[in-house]
Amino acid sequence: MELFKTIKELQQALTADKNKGFSIGFVPTMGALHRGHLSLVERAGLENERVVVSIFVNPTQFNNSNDLKSYPRTLDSDLELLSSYPCDYIFSPEVTEIYPEPDTRKFDFGTLETVMEGHFRPGHFNGVAQVVSKLFEIVKPDKAYFGLKDFQQYSIIKAMCSMLQLPVRIIPCDIIREKDGLAMSSRNALLTENHRAVAPQIFSILQEAVSEAELFGPEEIKKRVIGKIASIPLLQLEYFDIVDELTLQNITSWEHQGVKVGCIAVFAGSVRLIDNIVFAK
Ligand code: PAF
Repeated sequence: MELFKTIKELQQALTADKNKGFSIGFVPTMGALHRGHLSLVERAGLENERVVVSIFVNPTQFNNSNDLKSYPRTLDSDLELLSSYPCDYIFSPEVTEIYPEPDTRKFDFGTLETVMEGHFRPGHFNGVAQVVSKLFEIVKPDKAYFGLKDFQQYSIIKAMCSMLQLPVRIIPCDIIREKDGLAMSSRNALLTENHRAVAPQIFSILQEAVSEAELFGPEEIKKRVIGKIASIPLLQLEYFDIVDELTLQNITSWEHQGVKVGCIAVFAGSVRLIDNIVFAK
């Protein structure tokens, strides 16, 4: 496993690999790695001859400077963790390496970015698209792996690739959960003990919503989820939407064709958690 800080060094290694005909799998991360990330690395290792993991806390995707400041940075333990996974290269650049000058590109993802995360975190997906397109340009992977906890991000990345005609296959990977159901996230490390204790209820409430879908329509399910989160004093709902998996637009009837996904964002104290669940209807 080799650690590179510059684009030049990484590309030198990758050029040699590509000349040998090796396929390249890429796992972009912001570090503070957990089992969710490691499952992506594992899968990338099974499907490719070389695996690159980037660790870069991308400033352009944070619309809140405190969030950027408090985002966990744990490079040493990340490297330690990765050493027992099939990771060949770690790319951990400084901000100036990725942004020698400000990236002024504005992506237009239409209605994919005006809902849910895009609505509550204006500019977030533009920043994600900026950094991921730069990283794809640097690594030129055959496949890139994204966790489905960030469901809307996955849609945006696919849209970005088709917009920029990037020849990379985007591989969606299942959400990895703690034993108590809490979706793994780097932000979980920031939860207080009390908030950590109630956070698994987010997933329990989503599971209940799925089972109650036999009895109630989507609007009623939404009201019930809102009510249940409101009854937990340490949690504060930002949104819960039941959307079509492709358009991300709200659905109002179970008759709607296509896969329906319940997406939620909740504050546990100052920590913002997201999760989602598929309605098997
Ligand atoms: O999902 C993340 O960790 C980030 O949004 C990503 C894709 C690494 C871009 O900074």
